[in-house]
Amino acid sequence: MEPVKLNFDQALDFIKEGEFNKQQDLAREKLKLLHEKTGPGNNFLGWLNLPSSINDKQIQEIVSAANELRNKADVIVIIGIGGSYLGAKAVIEALDHNFGQLLQTGKDPLILFAGQNLSQDYLADLLEVIDDKNYGIVVISKSGTTTEPALAFRILKNHLESKVGRKKTGERIIAITDREKGALKQLANEEGYKTFVIPDDIGGRYSVLTPVGLLPAALAGIRIDKLVEGAGDMEKITGKEISQGNNPAVQYAIIRNLLYQQGRKIEILVNYTPRLHFFAEWWKQLFGESEGKEAKGIYPASVDFTTDLHSLGQYIQEGERMLFETVISVTNPVKQLYIPYDETNLDKLNYLAGKSLDEVNKMAELGTMLAHVNGGVPNIHLEIPFLNEFYLGQLIYFFEKACAISGYLLGVNPFNQPGVEAYKKNMFALLGKPGFEEESERIRNKLKT
Ligand code: PA5
Repeated sequence: MEPVKLNFDQALDFIKEGEFNKQQDLAREKLKLLHEKTGPGNNFLGWLNLPSSINDKQIQEIVSAANELRNKADVIVIIGIGGSYLGAKAVIEALDHNFGQLLQTGKDPLILFAGQNLSQDYLADLLEVIDDKNYGIVVISKSGTTTEPALAFRILKNHLESKVGRKKTGERIIAITDREKGALKQLANEEGYKTFVIPDDIGGRYSVLTPVGLLPAALAGIRIDKLVEGAGDMEKITGKEISQGNNPAVQYAIIRNLLYQQGRKIEILVNYTPRLHFFAEWWKQLFGESEGKEAKGIYPASVDFTTDLHSLGQYIQEGERMLFETVISVTNPVKQLYIPYDETNLDKLNYLAGKSLDEVNKMAELGTMLAHVNGGVPNIHLEIPFLNEFYLGQLIYFFEKACAISGYLLGVNPFNQPGVEAYKKNMFALLGKPGFEEESERIRNKLKT
């Protein structure tokens, strides 16, 4: 099958001639570093050969566990945050019916999410809607100690136990966590929950092709074998043996770094279908956590077009020129819808009668690209023939690989996230967590001044 097509002609015009070629040797070195596992963060490269190393038995095990839980529950609450949430949410939103929540045919369970925030109203509302439902829980936390999912899990487990008792609750919970460490693993052992492992050498934002993303996807009825197949295809396409000219991950990494060097500090991921909204959220975490460190890195942003053309479109067209766009374009829609002819033509839209709505969307896409490039915004274009499991798998692996190379080109370790601890320390100190007394004192003094 055809791979994701990358076209950066509309970005190259913003780079001095010859610059792209000059970067090729450096990028080749970085690709080697990645494949030889000799670069920074090399103990977190388990994702690199993941698609080709997952076997049918592992896939089948995930599908069986999903089917078992699907048979027991009409609603499944997935608990997790960051890398333990965004991949699953992105895949489900991209491949599910746009109004799946209302379209409960009885075939697939309703998938809801929790533990991705600390909002009391969110969780209270969730408890309200699932109170009379037959529900199950998938709790995902590599460390097993992250506050948001741990609190949500405690509250939901307590709720479920009070409804169906401890034994039945245990049968409706699946935990995805570390092989040995962490409070969740301990609890899972004690309560006898079914568990899946997040490998030690795969960080949260690179974990979507492990049970972290695959089990929730399988619960939603998504063909995870196809998702992995697509990712495997991209693993081959971007492999170290592929010369750079044909390696889209390397090319994308080079072009975005060159744009960054010229003051393009913000990359906007653009989509023209709401199904890709959460894919962009996943992408933002992938690039933001991987590159935003040591006072460096492109700020990853996203827009849903044409919706946001009526809000942020003005800024993109004429605001400060520190932006570039990467557009994900889907060639073929899943469904057909044609614009009808209208006798009165009061809305003056008969010139579009007989055309598909997608044709209009495509012209909006082309028109926007031309306008933005003309307004001084470099455009990178990524095209997939269909938004299905296979091509989504390709896109996921493409961005993971490109992000790693891009981080190395930038000169950072793309696999750590030291900055995410700062707010936690303050929050724990403010909440009076044992062991944070000194920090608490420091904060109180600071707040007094
Ligand atoms: O990418 C990351 O490492 C983070 O976003 C984590 O996934 C997130 O903080 C959740 O961590 P955990 O899975 O340990 O609960």
